[in-house]
Amino acid sequence: MEVHAEEILKRPLTNTFGAELQGIDLAADQDAAIIEYVRSLWHKHKLLLFRDQKLEEAQLVRFSRHFGPLEIHLRKEYLSRENPEVLLVSNVKESGKTVGILADREVGWHYDQIYLEHPAVGSLLYSLKIPPQGGNTYFADMHSAYEALPNATKNRIAGHQAVQSYEAFNQMYSEPTSKEQKEKTPNVTHPMVRTHPYTGRKALYICPGMTTQIVGLPKEESDALLAELFDWCTRPEFVYTHSWQKGDALLWDNACTMHRRDPFDGRHERLLKRTTILPDAEKAKPY
Ligand code: OGA
Ligand code: MN
Repeated sequence: MEVHAEEILKRPLTNTFGAELQGIDLAADQDAAIIEYVRSLWHKHKLLLFRDQKLEEAQLVRFSRHFGPLEIHLRKEYLSRENPEVLLVSNVKESGKTVGILADREVGWHYDQIYLEHPAVGSLLYSLKIPPQGGNTYFADMHSAYEALPNATKNRIAGHQAVQSYEAFNQMYSEPTSKEQKEKTPNVTHPMVRTHPYTGRKALYICPGMTTQIVGLPKEESDALLAELFDWCTRPEFVYTHSWQKGDALLWDNACTMHRRDPFDGRHERLLKRTTILPDAEKAKPY
């Protein structure tokens, strides 16, 4: 099947990254050529917006699988019962218990699953219920932020590793983990600059929500350098703000963008469903 690229690409979301696509029904059985094209756009634009989607969970899973194996999130309490590849992100309550993760609170800048030994390369977040205001999600283009760094800073961080802590994130922004979950998520270290497993592009691979320390630097120096880098990569020119509509699906490149979310009024319900995309086996080697 021929792909009419100019009909699919609707508009850029910012000057450096993000694109809205049109004419693709994620619920449909997709032609391989379309999937390949979407994959190339995902890598090129780093963040893809599909509007007006109507997806069953199985369809969300099927579409997501085209981009890599799916992770089963370790927060089992927030997984869809029918489809464990689907993580509920929500403040909706059932029998007095919140069905989803993150509820209505502010969520600081983070990369999804940066705390894994072989971290995720993508996430697809699909919205079913959106409050009238609040709950915007912000994305930072960590590839452009890295590229624009002064050479002196690039040299300063080259070859350095940083500690990533899920525990730190949970204390600030999420629900505490169980003892068993804690044991499964020890701190890990990753290079501060991640080379993208598919595109080879370099991006800053640190985030205020989980990066606690640059390995080998005294704490004060590490804190100061991280603060400087976080100020840099969250400058407006690297950030896209997404104001959600029901039916939006956002597919992001989780190897070179990080995101955060505003809080919202918990009297309103918000429900999104997320899949998390891991690198294909041959791309998952340590880096
Ligand atoms: C996520 C996340 C943001 C949001 O699902 O990974 O960070 O807008 N969610 O709820
Ligand atoms: Mn997230």
